[in-house]
Amino acid sequence: MAISKKKQIMEDIKCCVVSCDKPLDASYWESQYEAKKTGWDLGTVSPPIKAYIDNFVNKNFRILIPGCGNSYEAEYLIKKGFTNITVLDIAPTLVAVLQEKFKNKPEIQVILGDFFEHQGEYDLILEQTFFCALPPTLRQKYVLKMHQLLAKDGILAGLLFNRYFEFGPPFGGSQTEYKLLFKDAFDTIKMETAHNSIAPRANSELFFELIKK
Ligand SMILES: C[S@@+](CC[C@H](N)C(=O)[O-])C[C@H]1O[C@@H](n2cnc3c(N)ncnc32)[C@H](O)[C@@H]1O
Repeated sequence: MAISKKKQIMEDIKCCVVSCDKPLDASYWESQYEAKKTGWDLGTVSPPIKAYIDNFVNKNFRILIPGCGNSYEAEYLIKKGFTNITVLDIAPTLVAVLQEKFKNKPEIQVILGDFFEHQGEYDLILEQTFFCALPPTLRQKYVLKMHQLLAKDGILAGLLFNRYFEFGPPFGGSQTEYKLLFKDAFDTIKMETAHNSIAPRANSELFFELIKK
């Protein structure tokens, strides 16, 4: 690995250590929602994920969205006729809002909980600014947990930042790093620069689709 790349990864981990002097736990995320400090929130379904959903044929796939936030992706899935959606988040205030919002939607199950403790089996898991919200030290654990939650031939798809940030969250990364991270547990169907990101994220997101090994 090139020295500059190694240096960048070390910087990323250092950023994490700096900002993780407060742990990124339920109270941290809860406080972000309480203070309405939700700069990641697009207010709508992310365009690359919308396009992916538009081309997804099996409406009965069991779908999980971990670290779901305001769950615009889930709303869009319902609109497109998907029948089995689970959204999961660790922040109680947010989850209470979601439970109210989706109370008449039998297609969707809203769960308050920690992704790493969650049990279930899914055919598709959608990633949208959840990976980057976790300390990079949890990345290996994230991969193993995704693998465990997916059924045979299950798919993990969504977006990853293809850039670094000075402070996290969000914590960035690179395509090379992600390929290395996922390669033992997943085969890569696709991992490429998203062509339809929102303007502030243009050319800095990778759309990926991985299949469980
Ligand atoms: C950056 S936000 C992204 C929210 C949403 N995906 C979006 O794009 O708007 C990260 C989300 O992950 C949730 N989160 C963080 N750690 C979590 C964990 N261990 N289990 C479940 N949710 C978690 C936070 O509460 C927050 O809603």
